[in-house]
Amino acid sequence: MNGKRVLLIVGGGIAAYKACELVRTLRKAGASVRCVLTAGGAQFITAMTLAALSEQPVHTNLFDLKDEAEMGHIQLSREADLVVVCPATADLLARMAAGIADDLATTLLLATDKPVLVVPAMNVRMWGHAATRRNVMQLRADGVSVMEPDEGPMACGEFGPGRLPEVDAIAAEISNHFTNGHRLAGKHVIVTAGPTHEPIDPVRYIANRSSGKQGFAIAGALAALGARVSLIAGPVALPTPAGVRRIDVETAREMAATVEAALPADAAVMVAAVADWRAEAATIKIKKQAGALPTLSLTENPDILAGLAHHPQRPGLLIGFAAETNDVLEHAIAKRQRKGCDWIVANDVSGDVMGGDANTIHIISANRTESWDRLPKDEVARKLAEKIADALQ
Ligand code: C5P
Repeated sequence: MNGKRVLLIVGGGIAAYKACELVRTLRKAGASVRCVLTAGGAQFITAMTLAALSEQPVHTNLFDLKDEAEMGHIQLSREADLVVVCPATADLLARMAAGIADDLATTLLLATDKPVLVVPAMNVRMWGHAATRRNVMQLRADGVSVMEPDEGPMACGEFGPGRLPEVDAIAAEISNHFTNGHRLAGKHVIVTAGPTHEPIDPVRYIANRSSGKQGFAIAGALAALGARVSLIAGPVALPTPAGVRRIDVETAREMAATVEAALPADAAVMVAAVADWRAEAATIKIKKQAGALPTLSLTENPDILAGLAHHPQRPGLLIGFAAETNDVLEHAIAKRQRKGCDWIVANDVSGDVMGGDANTIHIISANRTESWDRLPKDEVARKLAEKIADALQ
């Protein structure tokens, strides 16, 4: 973290005292830290403590003439390499999500053009409340990184998720941001994820069991490496990963058109389980009639992956997925050639992979096969993003 500048916003919660330790840890690792203390934060620790630990003036008021004369609040928000909010209370998360700027901390957060990492800490029920869930989802959609709190006994006597993560874990997250956060900077990656729905009539559709989890995790992992990610998602109820531009679609043809519109891209990772066929959709609901079965007349959908492989703007690295239940490697090797993509990521879906959290993966390229056995989908995503970064460099 040598020479990196962190702007640390300390919110009002009992975990604020751990922010002092964070300042020390970051400084020991070579970073310089400037602190902003909210009015709530000042109920728990003093500006003096943070000033002594950071060896920098601590800012507390939005309308402080002395501060503004030395360094305006806009400049303060821009001169850091990373803005960290720790601890972030439920109230601070809500005000950030709403874009409120009624004190120095929230004004800086609205004015900054720098990456923001939020480290929440609050009572377990406040963390689990629908309003907080909504706010976290909104912040992630806005490109803010929100760390997951730890689970365990809390200062308020309750138990559950909501504890501030250990200071070392926060420092590791910050360090990771500085070391890996730029590997894919300037690269645009398209990711498709989830199933597609093909309507039969206005109320019925053909679908498949894809949960979208693996594709969403890959989009998030690519964004964490600094890529500009366009995530083109079929109908799934998953939160948008931090820093990812998400476009929701329903049918295969919408997905194909949206992928086309998102070009050019340096890489494309086609994780979606695109429906192979669509039905001739009725414009009004098909009525059930005793003894009479409707017939579905199916038409083949466009193959988005194969289409991209032969596109004049073909992404430099084109990656397909293959979900197989048997003869996984043979099928995947044949599929790579048939589709004209660079890598096929084959996964064995004979067990509980669909909708589950773990995946066994084989990555097949022109001259080699690499296998990762039963990894969590997040880990598969992280490793794949690293491999993509290696390939694009
Ligand atoms: O042909 P199959 O569905 O087995 O191939 C899977 C791979 O092809 C996945 O990467 C999937 O996203 C992609 N695909 C596609 N468009 C289709 C069908 C599959 O992009 N219509």
